[in-house]
Amino acid sequence: MAYRASAQFYDLFAQGKEQEQSFYRLLAQEAGSPALELGVGTGNFAFALAEDGITVVGLEQSREMLQEARKKLQQAPSEIARRLLFIAGDMSSFQLDQKFRIIYIPSGSFQYLATRKQQLGCLRSVKAHLHEEGSFVFDVWVGKSDTSGTWRRLETVPLPEGGSVTRSISTQLQKEEGTIDIVLRFDIQNDDGRITDTFHDWSKLAALTVEDVKFLLAEAHFQVETLYSTFSRKPWKPKSDRAIFVAEPI
Ligand SMILES: C[S@@+](CC[C@H](N)C(=O)[O-])C[C@H]1O[C@@H](n2cnc3c(N)ncnc32)[C@H](O)[C@@H]1O
Repeated sequence: MAYRASAQFYDLFAQGKEQEQSFYRLLAQEAGSPALELGVGTGNFAFALAEDGITVVGLEQSREMLQEARKKLQQAPSEIARRLLFIAGDMSSFQLDQKFRIIYIPSGSFQYLATRKQQLGCLRSVKAHLHEEGSFVFDVWVGKSDTSGTWRRLETVPLPEGGSVTRSISTQLQKEEGTIDIVLRFDIQNDDGRITDTFHDWSKLAALTVEDVKFLLAEAHFQVETLYSTFSRKPWKPKSDRAIFVAEPI
């Protein structure tokens, strides 16, 4: 499963998401509480919304990611922490005894649902938990991915305890399955640059087109209210690499 070994490094590499965060903050302000984040990870978006006064439930499948989120919760000021709840669960099928004004899936995480069954299961669960005037917001990578399977070095960041960690990626398209196999490698280096440890994380992502997602949304009785290509709200165009869906129940 993805996000196990790498959970400890997630926040070190989760930089440069200011625009995405502002996008969700604004939508959550418009929608009001409560909000539900699916695949909440270490909780970065959820904490930002809670700082704005929004109550957020975060659902997460990886025990290790959930642990990181809960660690941060313990250190957060009490007026923020009391607005947050991180729970274990699978976004392809979940049942909570609450309805939400906004349900969102940032960072392309909907694509971790690799099969149509999981994708539809997620959309149906979202529908069942969404307030009738609520919004469902998520993004999907629809651009080309490197499918050669060769390793690409992404970035190196310093570790708080000294040394550094380098993240590398290999992606491989599985055409018949309609999925992309992703392997992330984390090499730990000491201060002399010698590799002292290596961690791997494997995941299978759905290769989706905008038409695929529109079809799935219609199947689950959603309509697309707006389709953007960037978190600065540029409209989607056929050559855009990213599609950001704002959908509403019908
Ligand atoms: C790219 S991370 C995003 C984390 C966080 N939302 C953010 O934007 O920083 C994807 C997250 O989705 C979680 N995830 C993947 N499949 C899931 C599923 N079926 N149910 C719940 N969480 C899932 C992963 O464990 C991981 O924490």
